[in-house]
Amino acid sequence: MKLTLYVWRQKGPNEKGQMAKYDAPDVNPDMSFLEMLDVVNEELTAKGEEPIAFDHDCREGICGMCGVVINGMPHGGHRGTTTCQLHMRHFRDGDSVYIEPWRSKGFPVLRDLVVDRGAFDRIIGAGGYVSVPTGAVPDANAILVPKPDADRAMDAAACIGCGACVAACPNGSAALFTSAKIGHLGVLPQGQPERYKRVLAMVDQMDSEGFGHCTSHRECEAACPKEISFEFITRMNRDYLKASLTDKNGS
Ligand code: SF4
Ligand code: FES
Repeated sequence: MKLTLYVWRQKGPNEKGQMAKYDAPDVNPDMSFLEMLDVVNEELTAKGEEPIAFDHDCREGICGMCGVVINGMPHGGHRGTTTCQLHMRHFRDGDSVYIEPWRSKGFPVLRDLVVDRGAFDRIIGAGGYVSVPTGAVPDANAILVPKPDADRAMDAAACIGCGACVAACPNGSAALFTSAKIGHLGVLPQGQPERYKRVLAMVDQMDSEGFGHCTSHRECEAACPKEISFEFITRMNRDYLKASLTDKNGS
């Protein structure tokens, strides 16, 4: 099939960007979106032009590296689908496709479709881990975890840190990502000793990175390729309030 692409091109963080038009005359419907971009890039390279820069790694929906706004929707807007798992059969012959980077103050554009998601690493660095000794493997396995809590922790741990939640949010909020990372530790017994210090530190770091505040639009939940529940934001807010009103240990 034949597509017309409009792609955001920007040489560097401080350069002015603009949309550029490309023809993609021979797109196989079985290609993934990234494979389609690969073909376009091969043609650009053959013509001596700069290929389009985009982030990718696993191409299996697990690393969180890929991520572009396609026709106004992060990852293309198909439920539970990353850009690397989006297939061209979802488009029609003759379609125009608009491809842009994540747009958020917290994710500055580095080049073309690549943004700096270092803010997410700094939010994790502020407390998204368990530092208390949990013993050796047999000791950790000896701690009984109720099945509903283990399931809830796994639901939150499914977050791959792609940033689509930020790109989808009209406020550019990182609340879904941050709450998933707080939530998956907060429901487990190993995460309890640092639970309230963690939520204060991670939320404060999120705020200092320039992300907006959550006003419950729930666009993040709709755009999330791992279908992380908005429930984690309410859990984060509850823990943050409790930590703010207590001695930071939740008592
Ligand atoms: S919460 Fe969902 S959309 Fe946000 S970073 Fe995690 S996986 Fe991506
Ligand atoms: S490239 Fe790893 S999730 Fe898409």
